[in-house]
Amino acid sequence: MSAFTTLDPDGPTISVGGASRATSVSSVVDRENPVWRGLSRADVEELRGIRPSESLGQMFAGDPGRADRFTLRCAGLVVDLSRNLWDERVREALLGLARRAAVDEGFRRLAAGERLNTSEDRPVGHVALRSSRRADVGVDGASVRDEVEATLDSMAAFVHAVAFGDIRGSTGRCFTDVVNIGIGGSDLGPAMAHEALRAFRVTGLRCRFVANLDVADLESNLVDLDPETTLVVVASKTFTTLETMANAEIARAWLSEALGGDGAIGHLVAVTADPRAADRFGVGRVFPFREWVGGRYSVGSSIGLSLMLAVGPAHFRDFLDGMAEVDDHVLAASLEHNAPLLVALLGVWYRDVLGLSSKAVLPYSHDLRRLPAYLQQLDMESNGKSTRIDGSTVDVETGPVVWGEPGTNAQHAFFQLLHQGTSVVPVDLLGFARAGSTSAAMFANLLAQANVLAFGRPADLVPDDPRRPHRVFPGNRPSTLILAERLDPRTLGRIIAFYEHVVFFQGLVWGINSFDQWGVELGKEVARGLLPLLGEPAGRSGPVGVDETAPLDTSSLRAIEWFRAHSADAPVRDVPSGDSGRLS
Ligand code: F6P
Repeated sequence: MSAFTTLDPDGPTISVGGASRATSVSSVVDRENPVWRGLSRADVEELRGIRPSESLGQMFAGDPGRADRFTLRCAGLVVDLSRNLWDERVREALLGLARRAAVDEGFRRLAAGERLNTSEDRPVGHVALRSSRRADVGVDGASVRDEVEATLDSMAAFVHAVAFGDIRGSTGRCFTDVVNIGIGGSDLGPAMAHEALRAFRVTGLRCRFVANLDVADLESNLVDLDPETTLVVVASKTFTTLETMANAEIARAWLSEALGGDGAIGHLVAVTADPRAADRFGVGRVFPFREWVGGRYSVGSSIGLSLMLAVGPAHFRDFLDGMAEVDDHVLAASLEHNAPLLVALLGVWYRDVLGLSSKAVLPYSHDLRRLPAYLQQLDMESNGKSTRIDGSTVDVETGPVVWGEPGTNAQHAFFQLLHQGTSVVPVDLLGFARAGSTSAAMFANLLAQANVLAFGRPADLVPDDPRRPHRVFPGNRPSTLILAERLDPRTLGRIIAFYEHVVFFQGLVWGINSFDQWGVELGKEVARGLLPLLGEPAGRSGPVGVDETAPLDTSSLRAIEWFRAHSADAPVRDVPSGDSGRLS
């Protein structure tokens, strides 16, 4: 007897096992819709009608070709989509959506560096960063090939000079350590890749990554470093980000105390799209990148300098080439064989049709342990939107909550919920064939989890005793396998570009701008406005509140009073009280 159940079609869990509804695929695929504004509620309703009636167990049992038909190759990655809650009919319908959203034209525009970031009126050019093998590398109609190559060459020359001791610290000692100060896209990409490419660090330079405003992050990283042999890379697109500038100032003071103000300069390097701001701050060298590189898409730009300082220029080139291979795959593949597109469409299927609100990314690789954090920014900052490009409000669900941990650690933390919880979470399982002496054990675990999630354990296979209900696994829980021979720079580049394009395609289907991030701005402004009330001088732009004219709410006032009463520093300003409290 199977434990597969039919659940509420509109609820947050999956409906399987019921009769298939009558809506025809063609009505979803062929409906005329020349101007695509984004997925609508009506589209979702139509798609709801074609949910598979069979469970994964039934679909596999009745179809020996399923794994082959639902497995794609993408630039050396093997992407097995067969354990997902779909069939050919669903795939066709989703591809119909993709056609209506003109995703191939959308990707062509991305690859050409067009002005896709409409709300900020900016071109989106990150694909050009890794396109050196192509003749037509352009952004916003202009060739950027020479510029991209020149930046990579200057980074490589710097890395060689530092590694070989041609560039040294102000006291003549060679640099041994690099501290990258940056946050968000100026941290997560290089920090994640630095961990992932542990086996490819060839320069002997040790890199650390500091992001948090909490001084504990910087302090704990500087504590065992020698300023004489430490190079600080200040990585910030805008060169205004509070966290990064605060940490950079503390790091500069730390260097200056040991080396003097002039001595510190040669230990400071900036990576930024605003070189003049970096010059004003005072650094020895600036590696620029352009406005058309979005923060969360910037690891292939000079934001990758700290990564290159660790893995060397050749590995960094391989990393970019891996990204370019996936770009090429997407440009060349038919929609049916376009692996990032199909993963994106599955994501839409889960989010909108099956009502699943989160997605877990589970790399079976300790070196990839920062990948979930990296993907959180990539996905949630890109597609966590509820306004379409045209300014209208979406009426469907958009980006999921993305989370994850490396296997096998994750198995001993939250897999209980994945297997037997009331929420269904689609998972991506990333696995490698050659990953050291525990490769087979790691892969066995990955596959075991995928199979238990998919096929479960029905009650009739469990001994008939009082524990039986607790030992039943419902199964029919979706997973995608993303497999590669080994985790090397090229593979990592492929994985990153793969997910970038998943996010991009989903943004196209939802009709949202995946390249802005207005949702992170207001909190920054309000924090600046609150700072004086907590006894600190205001940030650069002066105090700004949600509504400067409105009274501060009583909960905030109480929290401020509490903070001032309990923090070590004496308050420098009185807190306005009661309803007349104002932010500034
Ligand atoms: O606050 C979000 C954000 O703007 C991200 O998009 C970006 O990656 C991060 O801050 C860091 O910005 P910057 O590189 O300008 O310091």
